[in-house]
Amino acid sequence: FQPKVLAGKRVLITAGPTFEAIDPVRGLTNLSSGKMGYAVARAAREAGADVTLVSGPTTLATPHGVRRIDVLSARQMHEAVMAAVHGQHVFIGVAAVADWRVVNFSAQKMKKQDGGAPPELKFEQNPDILASVASTVSITGWPYCVGFAAESENLVEYGAAKREKKGVPLLVGNIGHHTFGQDDNSVILFDESGHTVLPPADKLTLGRQLVSEIAKRLERRSLL
Ligand code: C5P
Repeated sequence: FQPKVLAGKRVLITAGPTFEAIDPVRGLTNLSSGKMGYAVARAAREAGADVTLVSGPTTLATPHGVRRIDVLSARQMHEAVMAAVHGQHVFIGVAAVADWRVVNFSAQKMKKQDGGAPPELKFEQNPDILASVASTVSITGWPYCVGFAAESENLVEYGAAKREKKGVPLLVGNIGHHTFGQDDNSVILFDESGHTVLPPADKLTLGRQLVSEIAKRLERRSLL
């Protein structure tokens, strides 16, 4: 039994990788499976929230009762999120968004030339979706923004710094190459009073814990 700690709340979540096209049949992506974001979406729905999940390409089934919007690129994800953000109480950016997109994208399939030079890709930085959402936070404090950080080392130090840099009240740190594609994860929560290590668990368990941590903070806020 899950208590309905988010009843009446609207929650917007990003999940999965993004896909940045090189030409009509090729592109750049990353090893995110979407499992963590989908688990958070399921947990938020179980907790009674109205959940919108903006998802990059994954092979996962939509959690029961969750509204899902499929996108490919970081720019599409940004657009879908900004179109849905109005009226949301919580935003959770779980997606592994590509930092760069290919600017010299070819409308036709690139052809391999015998003896020819390989193509050179040029990159441009993608919009930071979490930062864009964080910049829309109104004086009433909505939406409450939660970020994720996939690091490969120094998680405690980098996680705290990333929370500050992103300007979000809560950030979930994990080790990228340990979590991508896996069913289990181990995470550290960073907030204004420090960090809390959660015991390693499956992603649904962690998703439920995260939802209850968010609900606690929303509760605390409304009491202030
Ligand atoms: O800067 P970094 O990519 O490590 O930040 C991770 C957090 O920011 C995650 O919550 C991720 O979903 C979000 N993010 C984003 N848009 C980007 C890059 C990251 O929303 N372009």
